[in-house]
Formats: sequence, C-alpha cells, structure tokens
Amino acid sequence: MLSYRHAYHAGNHADVLKHLVLLALLQQLRSKEKPFVVIDTHAGNGFYTLDSAQARKTREAESGALPLWQQHKQHPFGQPLLRDYMNLIAGFNPLSDAKHLAVYPGSPAIIQSQLREQDRLAVMELHSSEIEALRSNFHFDSRIGIHHRDGFEGAIALTPPNPRRGLVLIDPAYEDKSDYQRVAKTVKEIHRRWATGMIAVWYPMLGRSRDHSPALIQQLKSLPDVRVMELTVGNQTEEFGMHGSGMILVNTPWQFGKLVDAAMNEVASCLKAGYRVNFG
Ligand SMILES: C[S@@+](CC[C@H](N)C(=O)[O-])C[C@H]1O[C@@H](n2cnc3c(N)ncnc32)[C@H](O)[C@@H]1O
Repeated sequence: MLSYRHAYHAGNHADVLKHLVLLALLQQLRSKEKPFVVIDTHAGNGFYTLDSAQARKTREAESGALPLWQQHKQHPFGQPLLRDYMNLIAGFNPLSDAKHLAVYPGSPAIIQSQLREQDRLAVMELHSSEIEALRSNFHFDSRIGIHHRDGFEGAIALTPPNPRRGLVLIDPAYEDKSDYQRVAKTVKEIHRRWATGMIAVWYPMLGRSRDHSPALIQQLKSLPDVRVMELTVGNQTEEFGMHGSGMILVNTPWQFGKLVDAAMNEVASCLKAGYRVNFG
C-alpha cells in the first residue's frame, strides 16, 4: 500500500538539498549543446501548493524553502547556484510576496524547466492519484514520457538511454525498508548497463534504530566518483522523525563540489543547519 504523499513534505529541508543538487547536475548537462536524457524514478505529481490542507498540516516548507525565500527577498543570496534555485522558485510564484510562497515545484517541474528542445525526460510514478496529477501537469510536453510503473524496474528497463548522456534521479519515500536494498541493487545495475550515466540518490536520516543510510552509503561507495552530501537540521534522536537527509552521487562531474558546497553552506547558514561532504 502506498500511503506516502509528497504534498505533506514539499519544500522542506530535504527538498532543498535534493533540488539544489538536481539543479546543479542539470546545469552541468546544459553546459554542452549535446542532448541529454533524465530519468526521474519517483516523480510525485510535479507541483505542490503550499496552502493545501496537507502542506498546512505539517508546515514543512518552514524548515526549508520558506525561510530561504524570505531571506532571499530581503538580501539576495550571493552564490550563483542558490540564486538560480531561488529564481526558479520565483518563476512558479509570480504573485507571491516576500513573506509567502504559493507553489513549490517538484522534481519533474524543476527538470522540465531546464530541458532544451533536444533533451528528454522520463518520469515514473506508481501511486494512482499522483500519476493522474502528473499526467495532467505534463502531458502537453512532447519531450516528457510519463510512466505509471515501478521506478526501480522502469529505470533499469530504460537504460542505457539514447543518447547516452544524462542522469537518473532516484528519490523513493522509503516507506518500505526494502527500498534501501532496491536502491542499492538498482544503482549498481544502472551503472553496469550505463557506465557514464550520472546517478543521484536521495536518502533520509532517521533515529539510530531506523537509520539505514550508513549501510546504503557503504554499499555504493566503491562506484566511480561517488560524492555524499548531508544536510542536518537537528540531532539524531529516536523521537525526532527525520533530522536530515543526504544525496549520493555516482559519476559526479568534475568541479561539481565547488559550486554545490558554496551554495549549500549558504543554505545551512540560513537554516541554522549542518552540511557535510564525504565524511567517514
Ligand atoms: C519522495 S516522493 C517524490 C518527490 C519528487 N521526486 C520530488 O522531488 O518532487 C516519492 C514518490 O514515489 C512514489 N512511489 C512510491 N513507490 C514507488 C515505486 N516503486 N515506483 C515509482 N514511484 C513510487 C510515491 O507515490 C511518491 O509520489
């Protein structure tokens, strides 16, 4: 049973880390004229209104996108990647003032915003109402293929893509503990079929007894050019749900770190959070 709905979590600190890293990877792909392909295995519905009943219930954007938006409106951020991220959000919020944010874009919307005529995106989603919303949001764009299917199995079926230049984003809800094993297996299989493809995996950081992220990192760290980044907004306790999250990249582009770390340090200082890279 799929019960996770991203509408409860849109724009939180985890989305900020995930989407800044995603934007940086897309900018890297756009730096050459050659076409690229992006596969988004767990897409959600693409757009989240922050005054929905779900978003108002948890107010999770207050841990991420909202304070960034408010600070940026007062004193624009200095780091180019962070400015680009804020401008991207602003593009979906033409009527929002300096205090409020109406809409937060999900990964399909962020990727779509960076596609050129020659690029392609495949989005996958298993939840029956999320896929309906995803279809109605993106069906008009012929560059985007929308798949109602399991994202792990779908990503393997679509690799290697043509052209062989691009990125797979793997962003499960980890509702089911088996997702961790499925992520590790899927990443290894994608890499076996498509050695040059970039892969980006998001993971949550939970209370010690439920935190499977160290084991996941361990399983993937021998792949080429692996980079791990974590943003933490609280201490690890059993009571506090998700105190942070991380991204594991495979085939990290050259000089990627400089760009992302500077932006993430500015994020961390605004959110009073911790940011660390390739620890342990
Ligand atoms: C964390 S949310 C995705 C958020 C989205 N990537 C973003 O950044 O805006 C995870 C999504 O995966 C969907 N999902 C769960 N299991 C799935 C599976 N096996 N294959 C594809 N989608 C799945 C859920 O319905 C949910 O919408």
